[in-house]
Amino acid sequence: MSVSRPAAVIVLAAGEGTRMKSRLPKVLHEMCGRSMLGHVLAAAEEVAPQRVVVVVGHGREQVGAHLAEAAPKAETAVQAEQKGTGHAVRMVIEQLGPVSGTVVLVYGDTPLLRGRTLTDLVAGHEEAGNAVTVLSARVPDPHGYGRIVRDAEGAFTGIVEHADAAPEQLAVDEINSGMYAFDGALLSEVVHRLSTDNAKGEEYITDAVAILRGDGHRVGAALARDWVEIQGVNDRVQLAQARRLLNDRLLEDAMRAGATIVDPATTWLDAGVSIGRDAVIEPQTQLQGATSVGEDAHVGPGTVLRDTVVGAGAVVSNTVAHGARIGAGALVGPFSYLRPGTVLGDRAKAGTFVEMKNAVVGEGSKVPHLTYVGDAEIGRGSNIGASSVFVNYDGVGKHRTTIGDHVRTGSDNTFVAPVEVGDGAYTGAGTVVRENVPPGSLAVSAGGQRVIEGWVERKRPGTAAAEAARAAREDAAAELPEMSNKPE
Ligand code: UD1
Ligand code: CA
Repeated sequence: MSVSRPAAVIVLAAGEGTRMKSRLPKVLHEMCGRSMLGHVLAAAEEVAPQRVVVVVGHGREQVGAHLAEAAPKAETAVQAEQKGTGHAVRMVIEQLGPVSGTVVLVYGDTPLLRGRTLTDLVAGHEEAGNAVTVLSARVPDPHGYGRIVRDAEGAFTGIVEHADAAPEQLAVDEINSGMYAFDGALLSEVVHRLSTDNAKGEEYITDAVAILRGDGHRVGAALARDWVEIQGVNDRVQLAQARRLLNDRLLEDAMRAGATIVDPATTWLDAGVSIGRDAVIEPQTQLQGATSVGEDAHVGPGTVLRDTVVGAGAVVSNTVAHGARIGAGALVGPFSYLRPGTVLGDRAKAGTFVEMKNAVVGEGSKVPHLTYVGDAEIGRGSNIGASSVFVNYDGVGKHRTTIGDHVRTGSDNTFVAPVEVGDGAYTGAGTVVRENVPPGSLAVSAGGQRVIEGWVERKRPGTAAAEAARAAREDAAAELPEMSNKPE
């Protein structure tokens, strides 16, 4: 079906959302990596409208700031007082002028809306030559929704709000989704004719249907294929339900595209995440933001990745990573923490209890155990000994450590930045590397072991250690003569 570009999508987002009981305006509450409003705008983008107008009112500074960042091309119209959905649209027309062409109207609290549903709505609307086409839905529980009213022949005649409905109308299970396609010129005119003669004393956009029909225009109600999509979020219980449904949808898309999700019930994806074919996502894993997982990679269990790129075939378990790049075939975890600016080369390793920040680790290099690598560059094929610390902070500024290719550093090393260890160098166990180590040399700073006998009993009298030392000394003294008396 070929569809024209609608003149505009109008998104209503001026309401407070009292039932959220929140300081945050309702439409800014998040699910799957975006605000509810962000999800609605993403669906709106799919119909390629010439302009997007968001009606803001309650919390408009916060909503405006969010839009400036998340949808800078969206325009805003202000509805200072919330006097109904029709009043909100009137504010758009009064502030931005009349519109012509097709105008799509949606509400900002329906985050499950799909772009293709709007595309189908616009196509059907234009094909029928309607003044307005309402997206309707059959729902298990129509309570609270506006009902679709039809005459004896089944022709759509209007919408009646729940609070204004007669008992026989309340029994109708076909409801108004709150998504519409309008003829813009007719919409621009009809918003000036909405009355407030109803239960709430508000201007209802839903009244436009009966008015336009009364003027002799065609009006239509198109039944949505999937009623789940049109569910609105009014409180935090519905927010959690909608998040679950959206997550299920994202997981299903990932599985249909060839990823294995071992436990969909405990796996959470954000809308911007991509997962390659034959990748396996283990239980209790969250992939957030712009995270991408390469083909054949294995992620989880118990892993949270935000804005992180996982290369093909990498294995990442029990790990938290933010803003990291993990190379193909690399090994991460269990129990690693990769912070922004971490770049692990192909087949590199960040092992158990390893934290990295702003660190570039070359191809095949390994940092296997109990180590902090901050502000560092490690070349290829090097190995960092267990329990080492890259000391990047001198109390005032941060400094970098550079480790060359094929370096072997001993266990329990401290690299006091700024410092460099050259290609092919070694360091001994317990070395505090304060000076540059030239290529190919061995650096050792831990001195030979000194033993001061009897120190504990002399310097720590009265402690449990001193008591144990005394007992050991007496046992040794008692045993010695006995042993020397034994025949050979
Ligand atoms: C509305 C519809 C109802 C439909 C239902 C679908 C009307 C009169 N009723 O009812 O037929 O079944 O949605 O979910 O349209 N808003 C403003 N300014 C206002 C009032 C509302 O911007 O003055 C915004 C709200 O922020 C919200 C949206 O419009 O995003 C819908 O408003 P809401 O009060 O939730 O309408 P419903 O009673 O749910
Ligand atoms: Ca609502």
